Amino acid sequence: MKEIKKVTWRSPSNIALVKYWGKKKGVQIPAIPSISYTLENCYSETRDTLVPKESKSKDVELRFYFDGKENMAFRLRMLKFFDTISKDFPLLQQYGLFIHSTNSFPHSSGIASSASAMSALALCLCELQDELDKKKPSKDKFVQKASTIARLGSGSASRSLYPLAAEWGKSRAVKGSSDEYAVPFAKNLHKDFKNYQNTILIASSAEKKVSSRIGHSLMKGNPYAEPRFKQANKNLVEIMGALKKGDLEHFGTILEEEAMTLHALMMCSSPSFMLLAPSTLTMIEKIKRYREESKLPVYFTLDAGPNIHLLYPNNIKRKVDAFIFAELEKHCEGGKMIHDNVGEGPYRVK
Ligand code: PMV
Repeated sequence: MKEIKKVTWRSPSNIALVKYWGKKKGVQIPAIPSISYTLENCYSETRDTLVPKESKSKDVELRFYFDGKENMAFRLRMLKFFDTISKDFPLLQQYGLFIHSTNSFPHSSGIASSASAMSALALCLCELQDELDKKKPSKDKFVQKASTIARLGSGSASRSLYPLAAEWGKSRAVKGSSDEYAVPFAKNLHKDFKNYQNTILIASSAEKKVSSRIGHSLMKGNPYAEPRFKQANKNLVEIMGALKKGDLEHFGTILEEEAMTLHALMMCSSPSFMLLAPSTLTMIEKIKRYREESKLPVYFTLDAGPNIHLLYPNNIKRKVDAFIFAELEKHCEGGKMIHDNVGEGPYRVK
C-alpha cells in the first residue's frame, strides 16, 4: 500500500488533582475547572498513516489496530469521534487512514486509557492536517488545537498535552483558561512539586460497571451538584496556592477531599453507583495510619475506579516503597501496581 504521509506521537495519561465531574451545555464542556499532573510511564503511542482512498464515496476509510491486532470495537468508537471533528479534518474524507495504537500499561489494568489515547490521536491528526494544508502554526497554537480536539474525544485528555501539570476549564483564577482546551501549569509549580511520584495500586482491573460518560450525566439530577461545583472552584484556587508555595500538607488535604467527594457524588447519584472495592478502603486506612505515624507527606487520590494513586515527593521514595511492599502490595490484585511520576508531556516519535 502506498503511504502518503505517516506520523507517530507518544502521549501520557494524567491524574486529576481537582476532578472534572459533570458537564455544561455544549460538546464536552466541563461544569467546573480541573487540574492534573501529567504522568510519564503510562502512555499511548499512536501511528497514523494516510493512504489513497479505495472508493470515491465520502465514507471514512479507517482500519484501527490496537497492540498489533485489528480492533473493530475501537474502530467504531473512532468513527463516532470522527463525526464530531470532520469539519476540521478534511483528510478524513480525502484519504484512507490506518491507525496503530499501543498502551504502555496493560489494557486490563483498570487504568483509563482515554486521556493518553485521545491526546496521541489528536496530535497525529493535527500534524497531518497542518502538513497537508502547508500550515506551520506556532508550537503553542498547535498544542492548543490538539488539546481542543483531544477534549472532544475525552474531556480529561485535553490536559495530557502539557509538561508536568495542566488546568482545563474557565476560571477567574487562571489567566487564559478556557472550557475548550487546557492550559499549561508547570510555570506555577514549586520545585518540590516537580518531581512527584505516583504509584498506582491496582485494587481491581475489572471493567468499570458505570462509564465516565454516564457518571458525568448523572450529575444532572444530583442534589449535591451545585455545592460540589462551588467546592471545586474553591479547591482549584486552594490547590494552586499550595502548588505554588510548596505546601505539601495543604496540597494533600485537598487531594484527598477531591477523591472522596468524587466517589461520594457517585454514591448519591440516582441511580446510585459505587466504584470502590473493599481493598480500596483497606488501603486508604493504611495510608492514613502510615502518614500519622511516619509524619511523611504521603497522600492518595482516586480516579473513576477502585485503584489508588499514591502521591509523594521523590525524596521519600525509598521509605514509601518499603511501606508499599510491607503493607499495600498484598491488597493489590495479584500484587499489581504501576510506578509512575510527573512527566514532560507528549513527544513526536521519529
Ligand atoms: O475524561 P472523562 O470523560 O473520562 O472523565 C474523567 C473524569 C475523572 O477521571 C474522574 C476526573 C478527571 O478530571 O480526570
